[in-house]
Amino acid sequence: MTIKKISKDQPDTFEFSAENMLETKKIIKNYPEGKQQSAVMALLYLVQKQNNNWVPLAAMKYIAKILEMPYIKVYEVATFYSMYNLSPVGNYFIQICTTTPCMISGAYKLVEACKEKISTNERELSKNKSCSWMEVECLGACVNGPMIQINNDYFEDLDKEKTIKIIDQILKGEKPKPGSYRGRTNSAPENNRKTLTENKNA
Ligand code: FES
Repeated sequence: MTIKKISKDQPDTFEFSAENMLETKKIIKNYPEGKQQSAVMALLYLVQKQNNNWVPLAAMKYIAKILEMPYIKVYEVATFYSMYNLSPVGNYFIQICTTTPCMISGAYKLVEACKEKISTNERELSKNKSCSWMEVECLGACVNGPMIQINNDYFEDLDKEKTIKIIDQILKGEKPKPGSYRGRTNSAPENNRKTLTENKNA
């Protein structure tokens, strides 16, 4: 299990934007009166969306006040779930699936690419501070592994070389094309195969 890195550089305060405050009120209304604490995960997600993809400690205290719950309980949730980032991840956050189907298809070659191009350690910003990477569990695209998620997009059917090209693009501030890197449409078979017995290379 990856140890969560909590940033040493923390803002003193955090506040939701007017728009997110409205959203917060809407989310809280989804729960019965007095059970507003159940909104904690949704509010942490909202913080992350507003704050360039990471959750500062000040935001946890802010949420605790809104939901009338102890700060330590918000902290426990934020540090338990891997989807909350507790330090800056840059504009491009790369998540590499290393669960078994991706792992046996070469996921650790993609990890090598990230170590070489971004940083030797997970959750550490690249030199130009534009991106970071981490290993994650199954992202639900096992048929198209090995794969990575960058922000909200999936990049599939990768190998080390293709991953390096994608990283080079994001380091230059370009937006790489999501989807299969072997030309598949979604999870469709390659070469238009209709059955498993057809020749794969035909
Ligand atoms: S095992 Fe990698 S996406 Fe499922």
